[in-house]
Amino acid sequence: MGLELETIGDGSDLVWQRFEVPYEFPVVFCDNVLDPTSTTLLDAMSYREPDSCHKCLLFVDAGLLENGSSDLLDQIATFCAAHPNRIDMVAHPIAVPSGEAIKTGPEHLEKIQNDIHKYRIDRHSYVIAIGGGAVLDAVGYASAIAHRGVRHIRLPTTVLAQNDSGVGVKNAINLHGVKNYSGTFAPPWAVINDYQFIRSLPTRDRIAGLAEAVKVAMIRDGAFFDWMETHTGDLTRFEESAERYVIRRCAELHMRQIGQGGDPFERGSARPLDFGHWAAHKLESITRNTLRHGEAVAIGIALDTRYSVLTGLLDADQADRVMTLLEGLGFSLYHPDLFAEGPDGRSRLIAGLEEFREHLGGELTITLISRLGIDVEVHEIDDALMLQALHWLKDSFGPLPHAAE
Ligand SMILES: NC(=O)c1ccc[n+]([C@@H]2O[C@H](COP(=O)([O-])OP(=O)(O)OC[C@H]3O[C@@H](n4cnc5c(N)ncnc54)[C@H](O)[C@@H]3O)[C@@H](O)[C@H]2O)c1
Ligand SMILES: [Zn+2]
Repeated sequence: MGLELETIGDGSDLVWQRFEVPYEFPVVFCDNVLDPTSTTLLDAMSYREPDSCHKCLLFVDAGLLENGSSDLLDQIATFCAAHPNRIDMVAHPIAVPSGEAIKTGPEHLEKIQNDIHKYRIDRHSYVIAIGGGAVLDAVGYASAIAHRGVRHIRLPTTVLAQNDSGVGVKNAINLHGVKNYSGTFAPPWAVINDYQFIRSLPTRDRIAGLAEAVKVAMIRDGAFFDWMETHTGDLTRFEESAERYVIRRCAELHMRQIGQGGDPFERGSARPLDFGHWAAHKLESITRNTLRHGEAVAIGIALDTRYSVLTGLLDADQADRVMTLLEGLGFSLYHPDLFAEGPDGRSRLIAGLEEFREHLGGELTITLISRLGIDVEVHEIDDALMLQALHWLKDSFGPLPHAAE
């Protein structure tokens, strides 16, 4: 650290600029936020300026409109009509493309920015996003850079967005073929996790988000991992209290790591919440996003867990529990594109390690596991051992040798 330096270089005049900015924002867990009698959204907007009327622009995930509650737009209209003195909706809700499509390239980001500009959203107005993690990432990014940051409220509507991405401080879009290449750190104004949104989520996405719960349990909370093992059946049946608990606990652990982990804006190289993610991000791009983020994360977790065993860090029986839990939750732990090769014949996945290092900056830092609930950072990956781990995934979870290719 340079903080102790009193001079620099050849004795040039040196003044340290130093300040701290405290951040806080409410994360609410609730039901029926758009019920006209609910004041949750209004209170979440006005915790700094009680009782004022707020100018809002709202973006909604098109996939949620198609597959979710068909009367969502009516609900929003009724809600706004019930609170004319508190909320000034400057336009009809704007539907934006769903899933990774909205994050691919700058086109959709520009459209959102144009709307923010067109409707004269200023730094005391609100951009509200309702949708999955991808929509929240893109709308959050546009909000963060319009006027250098307008107030942004997230209403996450997937398990993954409620238990992980929506409660965090990052946003991004994918550029140059690199996942999350362009983005910012920008804490939202408020986050409202309304459990009712999850009800319309397709099974695939309802399961996919659980990968982040397995991940955070493995690095921070062994007891939570045990709980998921005991409640695997409840979770796959979407038993309500189990699903609510897993979302809430996972969100809480992510929030604790970001708020109290000492590096909310990821200036150092350590990235514990990215356990399993170097491979996941690469696999998402190799498969052209045919895998959900959570599905890729499950494979990434399995790979780095097996690698932890091969390096002698983790007992094989602990790793077996991880594989059993992931499979029990319904994840496939193998994908043929794990063996995709680049033009030079090298593994595309393993080349992703270098991209991950570039993304982090500085030293390569990969999170591994030494016990369930305890993570370890390593700064080197043995390519040969990682290939062994890949082959192990193929042999254990891939197609049977006699199956047709
Ligand atoms: N910013 C972060 O810190 C962070 C962290 C983790 C993940 N992410 C990002 O989050 C994204 C993944 O988010 P995701 O898993 O929420 O998937 P997603 O946003 O891709 O949504 C998946 C699908 O579900 C639909 N959908 C959303 N809510 C619905 C509902 N309630 N009912 C029916 N359909 C609904 C969407 O339209 C989409 O088709 C990835 O881009 C990932 O990189 C960001
Ligand atoms: Zn993730």
